[in-house]
Amino acid sequence: MTIPTLAILVSGSGSNLQAIIDAVESGRLKAHIAVVVSNRKAAYGLERAEAAGIPTRYHPLKPYRDAGKERSEYDADLATLLAEYSPDWVVLAGWMHIFSDAFLQHYPQRVVNLHPALPGQFPGAHAIDDALAAYERGEVDHTGVMVHLVPDERVDEGPVLATRTVPILPDDTHDTLAARIHAVEHDLLVATLSQLTESGRAQE
Ligand code: GRF
Repeated sequence: MTIPTLAILVSGSGSNLQAIIDAVESGRLKAHIAVVVSNRKAAYGLERAEAAGIPTRYHPLKPYRDAGKERSEYDADLATLLAEYSPDWVVLAGWMHIFSDAFLQHYPQRVVNLHPALPGQFPGAHAIDDALAAYERGEVDHTGVMVHLVPDERVDEGPVLATRTVPILPDDTHDTLAARIHAVEHDLLVATLSQLTESGRAQE
């Protein structure tokens, strides 16, 4: 059996990338990480990849914006860049760009996103703070984590692969809630990727 190949896209710290690297090294996740791509040069995730001997690529949006190019050109070029590595799965592990079809059409049912909230709740970049604010208004007593497929340009929506609930505690601050959410993310992302790579496809 051939080992599935992953391309992992990061924009920041890359703690979820690290969880994947550790799971591959320990044998919990039977996959090969072919490349880690970042849109940010300073992303610590790139250092984590280099430390693990994984090829890295930097693909910034700014030169496209400066040249007046369409966003779809950036997306198409990223798809071309990734094609060099023939990934079976593209994993968005803290990737802060929204993809257009110019990218997604190359990976139907193959782009996996991680989001620190449950389906239909708190989309976007401030999900943890939004959950805390909703808790303070008495609207929710928990938040969560989801892993889902990215079929189109909708933000943090698409067929759900896995979810896990995270309670919000009375003394929670952003940092304490974020720490518990990240710990859940690290485990859920690896568990979901293990299922996907073993079944070879997304479950219906
Ligand atoms: C995670 O909370 C992820 O759900 C969100 O961005 C964060 C990335 O964290 N999309 P890290 O870079 O993996 O540490």
